[in-house]
Amino acid sequence: MTTTPARSFSLALVGATGLVGRAVLDALADADLELSRLKLLASPRSKGARLEWNGEELPVDGLEEGALDGVDVAIFCVPPEVSRAWGPKARAAACVVVDGSSAFRLEPDVPLVVPEVNLAAIEGVRARGVVASPGPSATTLALALAPLQRAAGLERVVVATYEPVSGAGQRAVAQLEREATDLMNAREPEPGTALPHRIAFNLVPQVGAFGADGRTEEEARLADEARKVLSAPGLRVAATAVRVPLFFGHAAAVNVATSRPLSAAAAREALRAAPGVKVVDDPALSVYPMPMLAVNDDAVLVGRVREDPSQPNGLDLFLAADDLRRGAATGLVRLAAEVAARRQ
Ligand SMILES: NC(=O)c1ccc[n+]([C@@H]2O[C@H](COP(=O)([O-])OP(=O)(O)OC[C@H]3O[C@@H](n4cnc5c(N)ncnc54)[C@H](OP(=O)(O)O)[C@@H]3O)[C@@H](O)[C@H]2O)c1
Repeated sequence: MTTTPARSFSLALVGATGLVGRAVLDALADADLELSRLKLLASPRSKGARLEWNGEELPVDGLEEGALDGVDVAIFCVPPEVSRAWGPKARAAACVVVDGSSAFRLEPDVPLVVPEVNLAAIEGVRARGVVASPGPSATTLALALAPLQRAAGLERVVVATYEPVSGAGQRAVAQLEREATDLMNAREPEPGTALPHRIAFNLVPQVGAFGADGRTEEEARLADEARKVLSAPGLRVAATAVRVPLFFGHAAAVNVATSRPLSAAAAREALRAAPGVKVVDDPALSVYPMPMLAVNDDAVLVGRVREDPSQPNGLDLFLAADDLRRGAATGLVRLAAEVAARRQ
């Protein structure tokens, strides 16, 4: 997909030391951007650290008063409370924020954009000086649904996600590592604090806190974010989000009811033509999307496309993606370039 050409601009990566931050650094190295400066920021704890980028060692500074002065665009990959605190400060410094956290995603005057799906919405960035990127579940779901929506409309979506521990940050990655090592060495792991239960050799049907309606934060967010990106406020979405003992890589089983009939073959054609999507679908050869095939890929892999005989206009599909790359970094970098290209 082509990116609007940008003039040279200065970029800050806030949260550079985190999982998403490091994936953004990789995606930036692969992108053809003209950066006059790349400033790496993290919590004051990381001040003085150095990160390798494009063969150079770049220093990490603390996110402190004045840190965004002179910065044109900042990619935020920090906890939502940090984004909330620093959004207005960025605005005061005339720095546009591309936010990867959940802080602003559902605010009506903040555009929520997956560049391949609804880039036009980015124009709304002027209202608050912030454009938000959805979470990996909504990003990958919207990429797979958008071509089906264009081809036949969407009525209802039922999705079950299989989410890696990286979705809960570095502490959860460390918890799985420690638990797996302990169990492989016949030791009972100490209870972890990053996830509600032992995750090694287990599945946990809870991603985020439960709301009063019995849905988890992730299940509610996935539905709301997908509806916003697809401009489909009436789309019925039922989600079950499950944490699985994978370090990286996201997957989802998706059942769709379209408004008009769409055969599996026509759905595959629509998906093949869509940006940000790769069809991986040859069941006779056991070829289908799997997280291990999606590592470092800027596309979501979609396969197991088949008609659902249990309902009119029903389709089933399975998708897999690199949660940190496609689920976060690819969109954040592309949005930073698009914002920079629109600077006055
Ligand atoms: N993991 C995913 O798959 C994923 C995908 C999409 C979006 N997100 C969102 O992206 C954000 C980062 O997630 P992550 O998985 O990368 O988390 P992470 O690995 O825990 O990293 C958090 C980053 O935020 C920095 N940070 C924490 N408190 C800070 C503060 N007060 N000031 C400045 N920097 C601070 C940390 O710096 P230090 O190293 O100095 O502590 C670190 O760089 C979260 O909002 C998350 O919800 C995550």
